[in-house]
Amino acid sequence: MINIIKVNSEQQFNETGAGIIASLLQSNPRAILGLATGGTPVGVYQKLVELYREGVVSFKQASSYNLDEYVGLPENHPESYRRFMNEKLFNHIDIPIENTHVPSGNSEKAAEEYTRLLEKAGQIDLQLLGVGHNGHIGFNEPSENLHGPTHIVELDELTRQANARYFPSIEEVPTHAVTMGIGTILQAKQILLMAKGADKAEIVAKALKGPITTQCPASLLQTHANVVVVLDQAAGGLL
Ligand code: PGA
Repeated sequence: MINIIKVNSEQQFNETGAGIIASLLQSNPRAILGLATGGTPVGVYQKLVELYREGVVSFKQASSYNLDEYVGLPENHPESYRRFMNEKLFNHIDIPIENTHVPSGNSEKAAEEYTRLLEKAGQIDLQLLGVGHNGHIGFNEPSENLHGPTHIVELDELTRQANARYFPSIEEVPTHAVTMGIGTILQAKQILLMAKGADKAEIVAKALKGPITTQCPASLLQTHANVVVVLDQAAGGLL
């Protein structure tokens, strides 16, 4: 079932996303969080840091598993997702850093190891997701076949172009990534999909109301029992 929440401002967007995560931690301090990178969750993480500083929420017993990582960037590269997570969230809250997990982009065995780690962790309580303009979730790009567990993917040209804004030039955007697979994502107890901006309106409508197809990986969320979608007016404009 998909429950759509449309909000009226950037502030409400961030507060709504952070509020859902904070409520989960209040009722289950040991929650296992699936986290995402990209532009969409940045404000949500800022709001979570605020809630932590105000004493509203603690991450002390929580653990986290990120969706993906670029292949070939050193961990401390400014655009590695490990560094993103440390700088945007982990360094500012009380989560023990050893409880945070981001797949390695520098090990041939990364996919296998992350799959094993996720199996050992058990069910993710809440998986936060953004959506790419091509309908990808994590780095599961549109394709004839999708993979269940964590695996290495070749990034779509569209994805590399979208992410080039963070790199000095498009040539420096990695060509491959390691990503949690669709199977693992869909196993989460609850999914929180967030999207903002008019440039996401078309893909959001396709994902939530269009046919379920591997050519739009986010459309597979229609098969999940508990999805909350938070949209600003622009991203929800075609629904
Ligand atoms: P964005 O990326 O949050 O930077 O728009 C979303 C995604 O590609 O999953």
